[in-house]
Amino acid sequence: MSRIETLIGSMTLTEKLGQLTMTASSFTVTGPVIAGDSTQAIRTGEIGNLLNMVGAGPVRDLQRLAVEESRLKIPLLIGLDIIHGHRSLFPVPLAEAGVLDPALWEATAREAATEGAADGLALTFAPMLDVARDPRWGRTVEGCGEDPWLAAQMAMAKVRGFQGANLAARDSLAACAKHFVAYAPVMAGREYASVDVSERTLHEVHLPPFEAAVKAGVATIMPAFTDLAGIPMTAHAGLLRNWLRERMGFEGVIISDYNAIRELLNHGVAQDMPQAAALALNAGVDIDMMADGYRHGLPIALQRGLVSMQQIDTAVRRVLRLKEQLGLFEDPYGRCETREPQQRVARRRQLARTVGAQSLVLLKNERDVLPFGPALRRLAVLGPLADAAGEMRGPWWAAGVAEDQVSVLAGLRTALPQCEVSHAAGVAIDGQDTGGIGAALALCDAADGIVLCLGEAALMSGEAASRVDLSLPGAQQALATAVLRRAKQRGTPCAVVLFSGRPLTVAQLAQDCEALIAAWFPGCEAGHAVADVVLGKVSPSGRTVISWPRSVGQIPVFHGERRSGRPASPADRFTSKYLDSPNEPLFAFGHGLTYGRFRYSNLRVTPAAPTAGDTILVQVDLTNEGLRTARETVFVFTHDVVASVSPPLLQLAGFGRLELAPGGTGTVTVELSAARLRVLDRDLQPVFEPGAVEVLVGPRANRADLLVSTVQLRG
Ligand code: NOJ
Repeated sequence: MSRIETLIGSMTLTEKLGQLTMTASSFTVTGPVIAGDSTQAIRTGEIGNLLNMVGAGPVRDLQRLAVEESRLKIPLLIGLDIIHGHRSLFPVPLAEAGVLDPALWEATAREAATEGAADGLALTFAPMLDVARDPRWGRTVEGCGEDPWLAAQMAMAKVRGFQGANLAARDSLAACAKHFVAYAPVMAGREYASVDVSERTLHEVHLPPFEAAVKAGVATIMPAFTDLAGIPMTAHAGLLRNWLRERMGFEGVIISDYNAIRELLNHGVAQDMPQAAALALNAGVDIDMMADGYRHGLPIALQRGLVSMQQIDTAVRRVLRLKEQLGLFEDPYGRCETREPQQRVARRRQLARTVGAQSLVLLKNERDVLPFGPALRRLAVLGPLADAAGEMRGPWWAAGVAEDQVSVLAGLRTALPQCEVSHAAGVAIDGQDTGGIGAALALCDAADGIVLCLGEAALMSGEAASRVDLSLPGAQQALATAVLRRAKQRGTPCAVVLFSGRPLTVAQLAQDCEALIAAWFPGCEAGHAVADVVLGKVSPSGRTVISWPRSVGQIPVFHGERRSGRPASPADRFTSKYLDSPNEPLFAFGHGLTYGRFRYSNLRVTPAAPTAGDTILVQVDLTNEGLRTARETVFVFTHDVVASVSPPLLQLAGFGRLELAPGGTGTVTVELSAARLRVLDRDLQPVFEPGAVEVLVGPRANRADLLVSTVQLRG
């Protein structure tokens, strides 16, 4: 008999339920703070998994209790939210997605896994694959924006990066695709609120990234806190069992979200914990995170006949198999024994700087104000986010400590040793006090360049951080207005650097300033990354992977909208538009300038009449007509002209990149499989419908900026 079957055969019910239980220890880097009874519960086998532990020493101590002092010596599975780096923080996912480079996405996950594993961890609760089209929702920051195909690409890269080639390797972490599924469209953008999306939207938008993660071999999946049309995901047998397990063939571990089994009572679908636990187990949830519903509820559910021992065994088997795959039985202390060489840590920070700079999105650069020239003598670095190292982490900073982050002020000071770099915050991130604006203006008067750092605090996005007002918080708009007016009067170049975990509604700011960078939260090397771009050491190349609404009233605004029977026409009142706002977002999906200037020409799409088995080759020529070397990202969208179901206006199908020196010309080639042009028909079945499909190529999801070629699909 295999080790797993032997173990299951000898386990008491209590020990089985221990393997299905995950409990939080109080997070600490220097030593575990874990309640005495939990320590005892590890020895007795009542707790088999932990979260929020960190540090090789503390992990080893707890692992020893399980491996040496418990009856069956089953190792603990220990996890943490390593969302965008562990100790060395990379840009937040929304920013990192905009580098549009799967090799880099994978590389940062690999580094995060290596660092987390060296801290004793074996599991991360990432990547988050929720497709977010409502930036009021704070967790927009944790994902890769509005496009499902992009989320699927990121899913594959991240799973590869976290899990490596071999899950048992000491530097591999089990990944967790979350939150399954359709958590992002919570009602009115309000965290944890109810969700109700159509079956079609579910299949077209929200499920594909999870399908990609499963195909990439993701080890675990976490159901969302939310309900979908009244059925909480933690108890959604239709999607967890039928779709995920049976249709997708997912054999890994399903881990509930934090206390989500107990919250089935709040949802109003269970009367007591035994019933809640039974609902979750019946739906296919293997591990109960923090609710203690399995430990205390399943024995009663068994007596009531709500679940069977066979179901419990199946869940235990999956958990033990994961522990085995992670190499925990053979090498329980292995991850705690890795000493990382200093060089590796230094290289990791260099990677954070590279990705940080590449994730900055140059939204506007009138008169080529940026980059600032070498003649700079006195630079004023203003605003509440200028000297805010800790905020650069963004939400979910795992073990990243505030002191390890580089502020914009520090980064610019290091980059400009000969320049006098002065600083005033002007106003706080939040609050109405405008008393400091005068001091900021005084620095403007003495400067020959200004960098104005505005935006959100790190914890204004992330979990439980929904907002109804997406304008600049507090009195920051007043500071911006005053500084930009003064800069204009004196002819001083001024760049605004905006930090946020979501697009903000900054139409006024975007109009008033000459240069605007969306920096999101760039991570530990933030200040150096910003300095690299502002001073021209790096030509920006990041793109926004989410549309920027002009106002909250325009939400949701995204490139995959359907056409409408009355498409907007300025000449016709009775068409789909607003009386008081354009339909188009402030900045479209994909927008992001470089320090070059690219002309697109000569779009070729072959074959002209593809069948479902063909690979379509899309080629376009690029010329850099600007004065600097730069890297351009080229997007390929498709648009079905006539289909059995009204098609989206634009559908992302691929992207490519090319770096060109001034005057240089080159060709970008993107391959797409024609099978991707299948549509879900009226019965949600994928079909390859013959007829015309437009292939649109260009820098952003705005038809006016795209070259178009039409192919004829052949059945
Ligand atoms: C709740 C969050 O929804 C989830 O994403 C996270 O992994 C768990 N807490 C554990 O921290």
